[in-house]
Amino acid sequence: MNLVKIDRAHRVHIETFGCQMNEYDTELVRSLLKARGFTFTEDRERADVILMNTCAVRENAHTKVYSHLSDLRAIKRQRHLVVGVLGCMAQNLKEELMETEPLVDVLAGPDSYRRLPDLLMQAIEAQEQGSKPRGLAVDLSEYETYDDILPERTDGINAWLAVMRGCDNFCSFCVVPYTRGRERSRDPQGVIRETEHLVAQGHKQVTLLGQNVNSYLFGNWDFAHLITAVADVPGIERVRFTSPHPKDFPPALLDAVAGHPKICKHIHLPLQSGNDRVLDLMGRSYTRKEYLALVDDIRRRNPGIALTTDIICGFCSETDEEFLDTCRLVQDVGFHAAFVFKYSERARTIAARKYPDDVPEAVKTDRVARIVDMQTKIALRKNQELIGRTVTALVEGDSKRSSEQWMGKADNSLTVVWEKSGSRARPGDLIPISVSRASVTTLFGQEVPARQSR
Ligand code: 5AD
Ligand code: SF4
Repeated sequence: MNLVKIDRAHRVHIETFGCQMNEYDTELVRSLLKARGFTFTEDRERADVILMNTCAVRENAHTKVYSHLSDLRAIKRQRHLVVGVLGCMAQNLKEELMETEPLVDVLAGPDSYRRLPDLLMQAIEAQEQGSKPRGLAVDLSEYETYDDILPERTDGINAWLAVMRGCDNFCSFCVVPYTRGRERSRDPQGVIRETEHLVAQGHKQVTLLGQNVNSYLFGNWDFAHLITAVADVPGIERVRFTSPHPKDFPPALLDAVAGHPKICKHIHLPLQSGNDRVLDLMGRSYTRKEYLALVDDIRRRNPGIALTTDIICGFCSETDEEFLDTCRLVQDVGFHAAFVFKYSERARTIAARKYPDDVPEAVKTDRVARIVDMQTKIALRKNQELIGRTVTALVEGDSKRSSEQWMGKADNSLTVVWEKSGSRARPGDLIPISVSRASVTTLFGQEVPARQSR
């Protein structure tokens, strides 16, 4: 490999779009670049290199990246600037981006970040010599898990930790298997060592990540085994995981979530649709009845657990009646929150190849609005049920609205806000809060004095 020496520190600005896995990958990229002498800046005006870690899952993430790219045109006209596109769009749109977007100098897909420092250095040198640099690394790997790279983390409380990468499910609407490749899991010993290191660094919470996190498998270690071992690491206060697939919840995993005090009582359980024909077209491998049975099983073991979900409205050929099945299921389950999306056709997916995207845009918009409206009322009702109870908040920092208030997360993942005045809290502390008011997304309350909370 041709290693190019750095004669001065080049400043990199990174923008991250999309899911938590992308946030984690940005931390990996920071670590790889830092080891080669790059430095970082929050200010894109001062950057020699601007990287965008992109998402290809939905249309709006796509549009945002294109609009940010066009903002860079003006900067690039005035001075040397290397522009790199990382992540799922780099992987999926390599031809389009390289041929039609002269602004982009370097493309690196999710399995190619080890090559990024060299590609950037070559691009910087080429630009300084007046030639047009182009660097491309988009090979998918069956093995790459970046097991030996310690991410350069910026959040001191929660740490993302990818335990598996890729996805073999090929849900018909989803581009992830094409952009992130085949499923592969990390060695559990590496995951445990990294958790121990995180505790030593002062992190209180670790969130285990994977596109299909609960299909984790390494030798005879399954996900239930792994999450229990992580939660057993002395000093770790909270363990979360995302995103699981409803097909991979054996009893041992349900027992681990219900029984281990350090594993948070929250499961994100992507539903996508509540109608069997649509679920079958989506390739989700469960029926409405099986999904509901899983919800019952989870709640039998842990009645207070919070469930959240993802829903797609207006998938190919979805009728009004089929959409109403989703509405009824949402009503029956009573999720704490739902992320609701309009179906958007993604190039190369099974749905793009086999099924026409035939639900009119206005119908998709209307269906999303109806579910959001319904879910808003459900969330408000569920949150109000907590008034008068005490929840334990992990303090993250100032609330969004005011530096006079703390913001933290309850075990069930709800946001909690309370007055700083008279509070003993510091970021990273676990603080009991008596809930006195609730909105759709937030619990408001008062800190329970130390004497009473013992
Ligand atoms: N159109 C709309 N929503 C999608 N998602 C994934 N692919 C698409 C698509 N093509 C949603 C799913 C998934 C979440 C991360 O994004 O609900 O669970
Ligand atoms: Fe996409 Fe389905 Fe894999 Fe989730 S499980 S990443 S929706 S293919």
